[in-house]
Amino acid sequence: MPGSLEGLRALSPAEEYLRIVASAAARGLAPPDKTVLITGASGYLGQHLIAHLARTFPTWRLAAAYGGLDTFAEDFGAVCACVQLDLTDGAAVTALVSEVKPDVVLHLAAISSPAVCERDPARARAVNECPPLLAAVPAHACFVFLSTDQVYDGLAAPYTETSAAAPVNVYGQSKLSFERALTAALPSRSVCLRSSLILGPPTPGRHRYKQPTGTDHRVSFRSSPSSDAQVRSVVWVGDIVSILASLARDGVSPQSAGVYNMGGPERVTRVEVAEAVAAQGGYDAPQLIRPVARSSLPPAARAVASPPDISMDSTKLRSLTGHPATRLAEMVAGAAAAAGASPF
Ligand SMILES: NC(=O)c1ccc[n+]([C@@H]2O[C@H](COP(=O)([O-])OP(=O)(O)OC[C@H]3O[C@@H](n4cnc5c(N)ncnc54)[C@H](OP(=O)(O)O)[C@@H]3O)[C@@H](O)[C@H]2O)c1
Repeated sequence: MPGSLEGLRALSPAEEYLRIVASAAARGLAPPDKTVLITGASGYLGQHLIAHLARTFPTWRLAAAYGGLDTFAEDFGAVCACVQLDLTDGAAVTALVSEVKPDVVLHLAAISSPAVCERDPARARAVNECPPLLAAVPAHACFVFLSTDQVYDGLAAPYTETSAAAPVNVYGQSKLSFERALTAALPSRSVCLRSSLILGPPTPGRHRYKQPTGTDHRVSFRSSPSSDAQVRSVVWVGDIVSILASLARDGVSPQSAGVYNMGGPERVTRVEVAEAVAAQGGYDAPQLIRPVARSSLPPAARAVASPPDISMDSTKLRSLTGHPATRLAEMVAGAAAAAGASPF
């Protein structure tokens, strides 16, 4: 009987969202004064962002879309509407955005590993370029996209926003492609943030990848030599969260729309990052950290091209937000202090 089959069918993302909203209304919760759709909410940045938004803006409705991380709804269901969504399912993306009717979209979801993108370029493009998402955004909404410093080739640092983008791997190409589609579709309502490598404490909830604790760092220093050939403007997760929260609060205007580099104030190698972490943990850095040339890494680690120096000038973003940029030593101390602290 169709009726009994209906009872067994899994809810679509849009139906699941409506169920959560109806249950909030039934509990007498007031309608929200802003609705924000966050994709990639279960990721490293997404979890830090949701924890901050839920604490800072309790009157906003947060629609948090995640991929396949089963524990996400359990960890965050009390503070946001958690909806499982596969970005490669165009019909589900369109239906969910139509139901949520977001005032703001914070688009974080991606296959964020360059190595994974390189192994399956077709899937990387399907997820990272996701055409149905842009087509479904309501006319009044503003859109903020987490792009990457890997749109640059690494041969002419430091990069400004007027530097040529010339990605050397599938990951960078797919992110640049979404940037271009977004800028063409919503020229006066969108911001692309080209993020450097993000540093910070472990996520508040469970994450797909295990994150290192102090003891794990000692093990990982010993087992994985760091290449000193790559230079990055590493950036503090707390700075990104503050920038995203300000953009969501204030919206995007024709004056603020555009592409921004989002790096920290220093250009550092991965070895310097490892040394700073070791020093903070009281470890003997020269004993534990072994800088190596990228050319001597195993083939699997070299399978994806990596731009050597993509350090960036982020003056334009700092002028827009007025937000000071955290330095590496403060990041490492902050991560150690925040590890284990409750975000809620
Ligand atoms: N982390 C960095 O150092 C860094 C640097 C530069 C730029 N970025 C960019 O910043 C953003 C956030 O990075 P992150 O470190 O938080 O990434 P992350 O931890 O790898 O999280 C990726 C997120 O995307 C979701 N996702 C993956 N495939 C999906 C699919 N098919 N459908 C729906 N959702 C899917 C994942 O969901 P599940 O886990 O639930 O499957 C997860 O929520 C990304 O766009 C990344 O490219 C990151």
